[in-house]
Amino acid sequence: MGLLAGETAIITGGGSGIGRAAAHRFVEEGAAVAVFDVDGDSARAVADELDGVASEVDVTDADGLADAVADAARHMGGLSIMVNNAGIGGLSPLASYPLDEWDRIVRVNLHGVFNGIRASAPLMREAGGVIVNTASISGVRPAAGEGPYAAAKAGVSALTASAALEYGPRIRVNSVAPGSVRTALTEPLLESLPAQIERQIAGTPLGRMGEPEDVADVMVFLCSGLARYVTGQTIVVDGGMILHGSGVDGLLDAVSAEFPGVFDQS
Ligand SMILES: NC(=O)c1ccc[n+]([C@@H]2O[C@H](COP(=O)([O-])OP(=O)(O)OC[C@H]3O[C@@H](n4cnc5c(N)ncnc54)[C@H](O)[C@@H]3O)[C@@H](O)[C@H]2O)c1
Repeated sequence: MGLLAGETAIITGGGSGIGRAAAHRFVEEGAAVAVFDVDGDSARAVADELDGVASEVDVTDADGLADAVADAARHMGGLSIMVNNAGIGGLSPLASYPLDEWDRIVRVNLHGVFNGIRASAPLMREAGGVIVNTASISGVRPAAGEGPYAAAKAGVSALTASAALEYGPRIRVNSVAPGSVRTALTEPLLESLPAQIERQIAGTPLGRMGEPEDVADVMVFLCSGLARYVTGQTIVVDGGMILHGSGVDGLLDAVSAEFPGVFDQS
């Protein structure tokens, strides 16, 4: 029997990368899955691969997300797992960070998790459940150039701990903090700066970059009975990278050198 047999799960940002890998692994372990994404086509594509439910929803829209969560729970016959995984990145010196971009990054990465917790927890109170949020090593060991992203991800870890205190013992709440993982989020930057890949691998004790499945498997663990005595934690999944530094150490300087003027504010 699978580790998640009979569970009913929603995964935000499930249309790509880590969320898509989690959707696949959850179904392999016996769960029914609803794939939520602001990109409706990708959500539907992943849901079709898995015979799951899809929802086109923006996690920054609290009411829209709450409605979509309630619909998916009705469709699946309940909700026992909520994975608040949707996220976006950004890179710029603080001095020239556009305010609307700061706001957008914090809204998706931090408010989106808050909205997801508030939409799902009431549906789990009686039967119990598990919430997993996607934080980042950027929130544990930030680098220059990722101010709002790092602040939002540190906020996700703090929010996780606070929610675990409020929702225990019926609901466990944990975070995963991925290191550098090959996804649509990271590929464009890494492709334009190949030296970064070599630098990251050299600084990672396990000798390679992360794959989405590396993180998805830890999500499976946290959502399963194997983690029955784990709550309020942020589990770093980075091949040991933060023992040496972070995935984006030096990236701001590297991008500035490669693309002069890119961070100038007009
Ligand atoms: N890839 C990495 O190296 C890495 C490292 C640390 C943390 N993370 C985190 O992992 C999570 C997943 O990222 P990924 O690497 O798989 O990236 P990805 O771009 O492949 O997937 C993110 C998904 O989230 C969706 N999304 C974005 N904004 C949304 C919104 N407002 N509402 C609903 N969906 C939205 C996107 O459409 C996309 O499908 C993010 O929270 C990211 O910050 C990634």
